[in-house]
Amino acid sequence: MLSNENISANHLDIGVGTGYFLDKCEFPSTTPKLTLLDLNLNSLESCAKRVYRYKPAIHVGNVLKPLDISETYDSVGLSYLLHCLPGTMRDKAIVFQNIKTVLNPNGGVFGTTILGKGVSRNPMAQVLMGIYNSFGIFSNTHDKLSDLEFILKENFRTCSTHMVGCVAFFTGHL
Ligand SMILES: C[S@@+](CC[C@H](N)C(=O)[O-])C[C@H]1O[C@@H](n2cnc3c(N)ncnc32)[C@H](O)[C@@H]1O
Repeated sequence: MLSNENISANHLDIGVGTGYFLDKCEFPSTTPKLTLLDLNLNSLESCAKRVYRYKPAIHVGNVLKPLDISETYDSVGLSYLLHCLPGTMRDKAIVFQNIKTVLNPNGGVFGTTILGKGVSRNPMAQVLMGIYNSFGIFSNTHDKLSDLEFILKENFRTCSTHMVGCVAFFTGHL
């Protein structure tokens, strides 16, 4: 699992939702330093409860704005977040620019996002993605792999992507 390979014992998770995937991660320590950041306090509280065993710190914040966090991290996770953010994939480069301000030297970012362009989707996925985009739940109609690769290369010394269906798995390291 991508998360297990990339998560560190000093980790910031952004866009935590219910914490389902974070809860399943295997940290390289039983006592990681874990910080959760999300726009939504309910999501933060629900995720923090789920991973209470790590005693996480929580921050309400917007990853599209400069991050008001004084700590720095060895890894930052963005699981299923980018496709929820407004704008084109190129506009979403601001996320990586903001994250770099809280990454330690040699730190890395990893995550997943659902692409809406240049991927094959079955009819059900096409309908659902259309509905989610029309309600503003997703904003990924124009998100394509080449743009994700462009913004990763623009911000990180090394990066990788691979596709599983219409989900892009990615990493970037300083
Ligand atoms: C689809 S959920 C991701 C769930 C979780 N990471 C997972 O993999 O199960 C998206 C989350 O991103 C948060 N979010 C959306 N826009 C955000 C932003 N601009 N800054 C920070 N969090 C944001 C939402 O509140 C929500 O909790």
